[in-house]
Amino acid sequence: MTTIIKNGTVVTADLTYKADVRVENGMITEIGPNLTGDTVLDATGCYVMPGGIDPHTHLEMPFMGTYSADDFESGTRAALAGGTTMVVDFVLPGQGQGLMDAAKVWSNKSTRAHCDYSYHMAVTWWGEKVWEGMEDSVKAGITSFKHFLAYKGALMVNDDELFASFRRVGELGGLAMVHAENGDVVAELTAKLLAEGNTGPEAHAYSRPPQVEGEATNRAIMIADMAGVPLYVVHVSCEDSHEAIRRARQQGKRVWGEPLIQHLTLDESEYFHPDWDHAARRVMSPPFRNKAHQDSLWAGLMSGSLSVVATDHCAFTTEQKRFGKGDFSKIPNGTGGLEDRLPMLWTHGVGTGRMTPNEFVAVTSTNIAKILNCYPKKGAVLVGADADLIVWDPEKEKTITASAQRSAIDYNVFEGQTVKGLPRFTLTRGHVAVTEGAVTSREGHGQFVAREARPPVNRALSQWKDLTAPRPVLRSGIPATGV
Ligand code: URP
Ligand code: ZN
Ligand code: ZN
Ligand code: ZN
Repeated sequence: MTTIIKNGTVVTADLTYKADVRVENGMITEIGPNLTGDTVLDATGCYVMPGGIDPHTHLEMPFMGTYSADDFESGTRAALAGGTTMVVDFVLPGQGQGLMDAAKVWSNKSTRAHCDYSYHMAVTWWGEKVWEGMEDSVKAGITSFKHFLAYKGALMVNDDELFASFRRVGELGGLAMVHAENGDVVAELTAKLLAEGNTGPEAHAYSRPPQVEGEATNRAIMIADMAGVPLYVVHVSCEDSHEAIRRARQQGKRVWGEPLIQHLTLDESEYFHPDWDHAARRVMSPPFRNKAHQDSLWAGLMSGSLSVVATDHCAFTTEQKRFGKGDFSKIPNGTGGLEDRLPMLWTHGVGTGRMTPNEFVAVTSTNIAKILNCYPKKGAVLVGADADLIVWDPEKEKTITASAQRSAIDYNVFEGQTVKGLPRFTLTRGHVAVTEGAVTSREGHGQFVAREARPPVNRALSQWKDLTAPRPVLRSGIPATGV
């Protein structure tokens, strides 16, 4: 069976041109004028783009005493509705649990996925078993490893563990990732705020000021540099963190920054809403920031110092958020956005002239596929690439409401916002999953995307780790071994 996407304008990260696209057996088999086939999808007036890739989701994740409410079924259905055709979810091993045992749990959950998916591995504790498991993880196609510098007493790793793990990731040719907030300082500020009687959701933001993020980002960058590993900083929310990333990139370090659509479009005033539920629903880490930080994130996307836009989709119901009534530190951290990332970014990025359609494709899909090493299978409109495609109607509008969303939660942080730019069709490996807002995808259609490690290209660039230079001799007379 052949499907032809007809009369559209193909938009990739670097080209814009009129062409039809032929899709067969889940792949793109031809791009050119006047194609014919069994089924025709009319793309008149639309852009034909690679489907979105969300590099950061938490589906059915055990966290803060509960589970995130969207699982692989509802989460990937929501993704497709909004034009995202692949998600990269975090495998979260429990304390003492082997990495591949945790990966097995995730494999079971993801059998319900409507679209393709891949995994990052979280390094939530440190020991011989983790060190060994990392090689198995890479062999299994899970080549990126996230480290939490926050969530003290739960997921947080210390600097000695971070350095050891980063070196291991580097030696395996993997990608190090970091949640950069100083967990020790957050814990101190949280205790102080609670002791002073500040128990409401607005105190969450005060417990995690931009400085905790700037400090941790700088620290992670320096430690990654000493370990010789490329670094991906998740959910960059502020200038303090962005500045560190910008500087590292200027120095030639392979460091990438990932802002979220939430931080780009929502600000800290949300936490001062008189309705407790409204504010608590927006509690996430890092928290929403002020306009100056938002401007910095947009500037980073426009200039290329920030590379991708994600959601960190980690959705909790209002009932779950209420676990934190009387103590903001118990409000499950996380917000949703899987269905809304593309329309929101198009509206606020392309619609305002801050971003070209090509740049939109780059930050929502192509750059992600390249950084995570699944390009051009994903993130491309090329012959031989998977037919994960969106036929994007730049004139189609809607107002976002929780009542119409696919996510399993009972609210939407973008409620009431009008977006202009929506998928007319979404295709997942050639299957038409969405037609004009109607989702007809199939549970279980999604497949795991294994990603290969790359040669360890990112030897530390700082002067002190020049392996080719003669070793300096310590006062003891023993040559320094470096790292
Ligand atoms: O608040 C957040 N971001 N929750 C999800 C877990 C994480 O830190 O990414
Ligand atoms: Zn995080
Ligand atoms: Zn996250
Ligand atoms: Zn199929």
